[in-house]
Amino acid sequence: MASFQDLPIRDDLRDLTPYGAPQLEVRIPVNVNENNYGIPDEVAASIAAAVNKEIAGLHRYPDREFSLLRERLATYIGQGVNPDQIWAANGSNEVLQQLFMAFGGPGRRVVSFSPTYSMYPLIAKSVGSEYLAIPRAEDFSLPENFAALLTDAAPDITIICRPNNPTGTNHSLEEIVEIYSASKGMVIVDEAYQEFSELPSAVQLLPGRNRLVVLRTMSKAFSYAGTRLGYLVADSIVSDALRLVRLPYHLSALTQAAAIASIDHVDALLASVEAIKNSREELVNALPSMGLSAYPSSTNFVLIDGFKDPKATFTALLEKGILVRNVGIGNTLRISIGTEAEIAEIIETLAKLQDN
Ligand SMILES: Cc1ncc(COP(=O)(O)O)c(C=O)c1O
Repeated sequence: MASFQDLPIRDDLRDLTPYGAPQLEVRIPVNVNENNYGIPDEVAASIAAAVNKEIAGLHRYPDREFSLLRERLATYIGQGVNPDQIWAANGSNEVLQQLFMAFGGPGRRVVSFSPTYSMYPLIAKSVGSEYLAIPRAEDFSLPENFAALLTDAAPDITIICRPNNPTGTNHSLEEIVEIYSASKGMVIVDEAYQEFSELPSAVQLLPGRNRLVVLRTMSKAFSYAGTRLGYLVADSIVSDALRLVRLPYHLSALTQAAAIASIDHVDALLASVEAIKNSREELVNALPSMGLSAYPSSTNFVLIDGFKDPKATFTALLEKGILVRNVGIGNTLRISIGTEAEIAEIIETLAKLQDN
């Protein structure tokens, strides 16, 4: 059978594997760190009304500069951030792709700290960049000599996931400053899970650091993964660079309207964050009696260690309608923090499986 490798595809793409987290119809999906509480009813009504209002204008291209959305996102971020410091796209993955196109590309080097988010190498390589992973310490903190390693690697882009996916590990602002000082290239701080973190955002580090980019998303805490809306906060000259590589009108009128309507209800949308953090602690506390342990997590997921056979547990959980993630790290599985009821069921199911 023919495959894409039989096509005259770029040689540097030939051996890559596409992103492929399983999308299965299950009762309890806890594999891609979504917010299982979903959109509250009153917010859903506002989103529907806002999207409905756009329909009459759908024969026109949308606002290419998504000005109103940038205003609303700037207000949400606060800290004196201006709308021209915001840039958005269809998910933070697309923002990353634009950043890598503008600041990476052939002959350039992207560096991160592994294990980390699996899309970094894939997006880097898809734009022709070299990708270098500096291994984290055993507890997934940064290695002691990370600044020296970075200086040696001389990256065009350094990306750090804070808090880190898939380990949950957080990183101090001091470490971000050290990373910035150790490198001459762009520094991207991926804060996809910031709303769950106990540490302040790196947004406060932006003044005077025009190579620093803070990446955020509405996919996690905002329960908005299906809308596809990610954004960055940075010096406004970063957006100027991204205008060179983005496609015209990349954010549809419907996406802009839906995102604005949801940000107008930020308190209602983020109401689930506390419940998720409480459930995270409940899950973490239940693990030792099952012979399991969790890596410290500042996110809406937990990397659980101690499974004798992670593949077998993955399958046993799936048979019960619970889809978790095997990220291929030793004896671990990663579980997103679902609703209170879902986490109660997961604890009960895990306890039974570990008992057998
Ligand atoms: C660390 C991190 N960054 C970025 C993303 C991409 O999110 P999205 O494209 O939905 O904004 C994810 C998604 O899981 C993630 O875990």
